[in-house]
Amino acid sequence: MDEVARSTSERGELVLRRRDDGSLELRANGVFVMDTLETSTERELATRALGLHGNAGSVLIGGLGLGFTLAATLADPRVSEVTVVEIEPALVDWLRDGTVPHGPALLADPRVTVTVADVALALAEAAPSAYDLVLLDVDNGPGYLVHDTNAGLYRAPALEEARRATRPGGMVVVWSAAESAELEATMADVFGRWRTEAVPYDVDLQGRAETYWLYAGHVAGV
Ligand SMILES: C[S@@+](CC[C@H](N)C(=O)[O-])C[C@H]1O[C@@H](n2cnc3c(N)ncnc32)[C@H](O)[C@@H]1O
Repeated sequence: MDEVARSTSERGELVLRRRDDGSLELRANGVFVMDTLETSTERELATRALGLHGNAGSVLIGGLGLGFTLAATLADPRVSEVTVVEIEPALVDWLRDGTVPHGPALLADPRVTVTVADVALALAEAAPSAYDLVLLDVDNGPGYLVHDTNAGLYRAPALEEARRATRPGGMVVVWSAAESAELEATMADVFGRWRTEAVPYDVDLQGRAETYWLYAGHVAGV
């Protein structure tokens, strides 16, 4: 395992490593965040939402990570603008300067705007109905936070801001590394029980079976 890059911010240490099989792995304060080997649910976060939406033009992605949700979003020709909100400036730099090799092409896409900020603040400041889709993958989910400061993002006030920033007929989708009855109940309160769905995905994480979840809230409308 080779260290590729390291950075320190007020949230702690961010490390990018290359495994012996050539894949990249991202860790924050020693906690596994993601790798480039098993990215099916990061991509599904975008493709499922885009598949369910008739005309998704404008997308907000919370958490750039290693860019797989962004790549899947850009692969849809109907998407005309993507706002990516990422809290770690170093990560944006690593994708921009090619430290993450597939990064420069992604960020050079003219449809992409990257903002370095906390996505909870970006959503609170967003204009009403600014986006067709809001895709949130900023942490491991409410039960396994990398950063405790992200707890609020999985609660009603922040999810209500996300709903407010989403056009009628659009969707807010939250990625989680584990099933969370609490998040599902909160989504049901914010979007309505019949407009909320929890979808499990079986993944193989370096030989270990895991189930990741997508929690989707459909914004009433049109
Ligand atoms: C699991 S990764 C996202 C993976 C991404 N979906 C992908 O396809 O590569 C989580 C990302 O969210 C960022 N992040 C964490 N907290 C955040 C916050 N409050 N606002 C914005 N970004 C945040 C992390 O720095 C990290 O880049």
